[in-house]
Amino acid sequence: MKDQEKKNAALEAVTYIKSGQVVGLGTGSTAYFAIQRVGELIKEGLTIKAIPTSEETKRLAMELSIPLIDINEVTTIDITIDGADEFTAGLQLIKGGGGALLREKIVASITKQQIIIADSSKKVEKLGAFKVPVEVIPFAATAVAHKLKSLNGAAILRTKNNTVYLTDQQNYILDVDFGLIDEPAALAKALDHITGVVEHGLFIDLASMVICGQGEKTETYKV
Ligand code: A5P
Repeated sequence: MKDQEKKNAALEAVTYIKSGQVVGLGTGSTAYFAIQRVGELIKEGLTIKAIPTSEETKRLAMELSIPLIDINEVTTIDITIDGADEFTAGLQLIKGGGGALLREKIVASITKQQIIIADSSKKVEKLGAFKVPVEVIPFAATAVAHKLKSLNGAAILRTKNNTVYLTDQQNYILDVDFGLIDEPAALAKALDHITGVVEHGLFIDLASMVICGQGEKTETYKV
């Protein structure tokens, strides 16, 4: 059911893409369904140029013969379709469970229409049950983890296959438990100001719309 909800949300989101657009391609198991559909539409004649948000998505897009464009060749992106780990009805998000938050946020920051797709388990009243991913340069990992304590954040260094997880930019990720977050925008600002933090997974005022699979249907949340 979860996968069907993800797919339904993804298929609906893809209908917003028009020929001629520059399209940001998200990362993760929900974005996967959207990218697959974009690949099919390309074969049917859709003409777009895509910007992947991770190396994983880049590989998938290339397998599907989706034409890519370097992000440094554009200053804006028309539409991006990406997943989220949590979202609220007010369109605040936690992202980065898959580790791609830095490129995802850069892409979102220059995107005109940012569509988030999710299954129903991602909808929350308050963010924070999912730990907030914080990307740090390796040199700063311990210093940042210590500073996060003063924001009531308990940080765990992300590992994969028993070694430290490295992002596409060769940085580390701290997964930080802040408990339920009363003021995500204020916390995001505080995180922005910690030296050594490259980026974090609180996406504030970046989404234009969330399309959420709900059983057989979808629900749309807009600002
Ligand atoms: C990748 O870094 C993330 O931001 C994903 O967008 C997020 O984790 C959602 O992933 P799933 O669609 O796999 O749940």
